[in-house]
Formats: sequence, C-alpha cells, structure tokens
Amino acid sequence: MPHENTTAPHQPHDANSLPAAAAGRWPLGGDLPVRRMGFGAMRLPGRTWEGPAGDPEAAVAVLRRAVELGVDHIDTAAFYFYKDLSANAFIRRALHPYPDDLVIATKVGPDRSPDHDWLDAAGPAKLKADVHRNLRQLGVDRLDLVYLRFLSKDGPGDGRFEALAELREEGLIRHLGVSNATAAQLAEAQRIAPVAAVQNRYSPVSRDAEADALVELCARQGIAFVPFFPLGGAGAPHIAALREVAARHGASAAQVGLAWSLSVSPAVLAIPGTSSLAHLEENVAAAALTLDAEDLATLTAG
Ligand SMILES: NC(=O)c1ccc[n+]([C@@H]2O[C@H](COP(=O)([O-])OP(=O)(O)OC[C@H]3O[C@@H](n4cnc5c(N)ncnc54)[C@H](OP(=O)(O)O)[C@@H]3O)[C@@H](O)[C@H]2O)c1
Repeated sequence: MPHENTTAPHQPHDANSLPAAAAGRWPLGGDLPVRRMGFGAMRLPGRTWEGPAGDPEAAVAVLRRAVELGVDHIDTAAFYFYKDLSANAFIRRALHPYPDDLVIATKVGPDRSPDHDWLDAAGPAKLKADVHRNLRQLGVDRLDLVYLRFLSKDGPGDGRFEALAELREEGLIRHLGVSNATAAQLAEAQRIAPVAAVQNRYSPVSRDAEADALVELCARQGIAFVPFFPLGGAGAPHIAALREVAARHGASAAQVGLAWSLSVSPAVLAIPGTSSLAHLEENVAAAALTLDAEDLATLTAG
C-alpha cells in the first residue's frame, strides 16, 4: 500500500511479540504477508445497516489500538456506511498515512442508496467506479485486495470479474478476491484472473460440508479463506460447546470461536469486528489461544 510514513503508532521493537502476531502470517496472493488475526470494520459506522450510529471517536480509537496490537489486515467496503459515517473515512482518519505493512481489503459488488436501500448487483462500469471510490475514500493509489462480493443470482461473469482484472492490470489493484462465492464461482473467476482470497460466512455456528470443502480447497490452492461473521454475526455465540471449551481455557466464547477458525487451516484469516476496545483486546488475544484435540472434538460434536 502506498504510504508516507514507515512506522505504525507505538509499535515495540519486537513486532513478533505483538498480540496479533501469535497466530502467524499468511502470504496473501503469495507476496503480501498478513498476520492471521485481522479486523473487520463493517460495524464501525452503524451497529446494523439501519443504525444506531457508531461513535466516530470510539471507531478511531479501536482502529488505532488494533494496529498497536499488531493487526495489519483490515477489512472494509465503501458500502459500509450509516448516514454520513463511513468505515473507509474512519480508517483514513485513524491510520493515514498508513503503516508500511498495513493491508486494507475492500469489496465491490453490492451498494446502498443514501437512504440505505440495497441496489442491484453492479455491472462492470459501476464496479470500476466503485474501485475508484474506494481509492479516493481511503486515500491510496492502489488497493491491496478487492473482493467481488456476489449477491444471490450474480457471479463473476458478464464482464464483472474482467472489469476488476483490467484494473489489476492497470496497477490500481494488487490482488483480487471473491466473496459469498461457491466453488464453481471461484473456479469461474480463476479462469479470468488469479484469486488471492475468498471471503465467505464461516464460524463454529455456521459451517457445513460445502463450506468445509471450500476452506480445504482454498488452502490447497494457496488462497486465503477469510470468514465473515466469525463470531456468528451479532454478538458472540454462546452455544454450550463454545462455553464448555472456553471454561477449560479461562477464555471467552468469542475467543474460542476465533481460535477455532484459525485452527481449521493455516489459510484462514480472522477479521472479527467490534466497536469496543475491550472486545478488540479480547479478540486479538485469541490469536494465542491453541485448542487441543479434545476441544476440537467438543466443538465438532456441539
Ligand atoms: N463479505 C461479506 O459479505 C461480509 C459480511 C459480513 C461481514 N463481513 C466482514 O466481516 C467482518 C466481521 O463480521 P461482523 O463484524 O459482522 O461480525 P462478527 O465479527 O461475527 O461479530 C461482530 C459482533 O459481535 C460483537 N463482538 C465482537 N467481539 C466480541 C466479543 N469479544 N464478545 C462479545 N461480542 C463481541 C460486536 O459487538 P461490539 O461492537 O459490541 O463488540 C458485533 O455485534 C466485518 O467487520 C466485515 O469486515 C463481510
């Protein structure tokens, strides 16, 4: 990512001792290493798509603290906004000029009107315009990772993934990803351009054989798998098995959920979202939580 400074705020000398470093790194697209514990910015502007509004000062504090804790992978989108509050604007205000190693991933495909109504899936021209919108909002001249996020009936075809591949060729995008994708849609996209990451819903409380197979396929092909709703979407999932394993480790259910995601495959990158500093510290600390075979059996059975 283009940047103007060389150090993240308040980073100690030994970056490997930072809490987010405990789960190791993954080379996005083969050449862009990121720590496997990242951060998702979706809920900073509003708790839900319809509000209530987030607190801008809290959002900026959480983003800065995430970087201090060693997070170097932040997930966002231009359509993460509520009224005049936007995740991209918060990221820019909190972190620009960006640390050298910060990777910001964004998404295009869906969009919302200023009144927050969801719009139809974007065609090639709108996708390109949305890439430029992300570039402007984030204040960069190249985006590290851009996902094409599918809705229900759309996909990479009709010139959509080609449009993003063209921008990649022009140097405006470093790596491409797909989101909410089936294995068939991933393969279709890969026939057009390399895919560095897949971002799909996946957590201990929202998994199935198809999702498990896709995670495995990604790992085999060197593609990052980035689960969205890693904590189950709205609040940490307090299912009995998570609570049981959490009690064994003196951890929280949220931490066990995140540790489970990271244990599934080295290709999994966590991007838990929160607007709370306490939850951020808790979530990032889960990078150091190792689950044993008994824990995994409990979670699988649960
Ligand atoms: N590609 C896609 O279609 C898609 C869809 C959804 C999300 N995403 C991405 O995935 C990221 C993560 O998803 P998400 O933020 O919706 O869901 P999530 O990480 O599963 O959960 C976030 C929710 O859990 C709460 N939470 C966070 N940490 C907690 C903790 N330690 N204990 C208890 N509650 C906790 C948050 O509230 P507090 O603020 O109170 O902590 C928030 O309500 C998003 O930020 C976004 O970047 C992508």
